[in-house]
Amino acid sequence: MNKVAILVGGTGRGTNMKSLAQSCFDKRVDASVALVISPKENEAIEWARFFDIPVEILSKSEDYAEALLKIIVAYQIDIICLAGYMYLLPKNIIEHLPGRILNIHPSLLPKYGGKGMYGMNVHQAIFDANEIESGCTVHKVNEQYDDGAIVIQKRCTITTEDTPETIAAKVLELEHLAYPEALKLLTEELKQEFIT
Ligand code: GRF
Repeated sequence: MNKVAILVGGTGRGTNMKSLAQSCFDKRVDASVALVISPKENEAIEWARFFDIPVEILSKSEDYAEALLKIIVAYQIDIICLAGYMYLLPKNIIEHLPGRILNIHPSLLPKYGGKGMYGMNVHQAIFDANEIESGCTVHKVNEQYDDGAIVIQKRCTITTEDTPETIAAKVLELEHLAYPEALKLLTEELKQEFIT
């Protein structure tokens, strides 16, 4: 069974981490969340401990890339899911798990992606542009922000009643559906690779 590591950000709420872990516990996805990595203690880490998922705290330092790779290798991780991770993932990690790293972004990429486009910045920009729809994207991770091949997108409409906050809530609800589905697709893709 594929072992998944979830990388969260410093202020991680961990709601995507929870939805991914739940999908594995429920056997909707044939994988196990073997590790959660965070730069510091936060809500996501509290939830991981509650679920009995091993946790590693790793903050940015000069040898961050090597330290992260060491952890990924030690836990025999097959798949990485970024969920609120704020840095560009180091190149050595992408080379270690090519095509096996996913990220979730709260917009319909390629719109509203890239550096600086995170959290409420995204929803505020969408609101300011009077967009009539938004959504989320799960994509494979490459060396640019929010740029790899798209695995799944889910959309919602924006009405004149919406505010940046209500758009954020609608999109987050979609994220919790999209991420487990995308992880399932990736595990199936990896099984095919193994058979052929
Ligand atoms: C999500 O909105 C995700 O799209 C973005 O970071 C946020 C993480 O939220 N990459 P949570 O910590 O999973 O609740």
